[in-house]
Amino acid sequence: MADLIAPSILSADFARLGEEVDNVLKAGADIVHFDVMDNHFVPNLTIGPLVCEALRKHGVTAPIDVHLMIEPVDRIIPDFAKAGASYITFHPEASRHIDRTLQMIRDHGCKSGLVFNPATPLHHLDHVMDKIDMILLMSVNPGFGGQSFIPSALDKLRLVRKRIDESGFDIRLEIDGGVKVDNIREIKAAGADTFVAGSANFGQPDYKAVIDQMRAEMAKA
Ligand code: DX5
Ligand code: ZN
Repeated sequence: MADLIAPSILSADFARLGEEVDNVLKAGADIVHFDVMDNHFVPNLTIGPLVCEALRKHGVTAPIDVHLMIEPVDRIIPDFAKAGASYITFHPEASRHIDRTLQMIRDHGCKSGLVFNPATPLHHLDHVMDKIDMILLMSVNPGFGGQSFIPSALDKLRLVRKRIDESGFDIRLEIDGGVKVDNIREIKAAGADTFVAGSANFGQPDYKAVIDQMRAEMAKA
């Protein structure tokens, strides 16, 4: 499976969002990571389906990877599907009926995924591997960009990599939080294939330089 770089727009300049997304894609990013927060499930408030739709109307054709940090989840899924989301991932703690929510995401034509906080156990995967297109491991506690990578996420990545390989399903393994040029190599070596990077990209003057360096580091893994 090809490695995908997924800049999180949480760290972008929201006053120029369309241009920011165009620039980071032109610089070599593969997918757009779209962080949705509700000031309830996490202590921050961000963007919703209107902004997703605005990016599509602006002309963004790359996959949009919607990471829901909201509770409840189900009500908003049709809205994001209609707004042009490609992936919709959610936290198991935020849904009463995980299987139903996963199924609902696929029924609306999107790829589905479960997100695990640093301390969330992996048993939520036990009976739903056939309904998942992406597993997202948080390497920070969700809510904010610019936090430091929590090293125990590497062991968790190795565990999930094994589970995916043994399952035989076509499931992406995404990592989110504190991913930088200087740690992306070991993160890839631990099994990730999709790399969210917010402040590492949008905090820098030259997006292409950062993405090129990330790819060079990944090639060494
Ligand atoms: C945090 C978000 C992340 C965040 C990552 O809750 O889910 O996607 O934007 O930002 P960095 O890469 O700066 O840690
Ligand atoms: Zn995220």
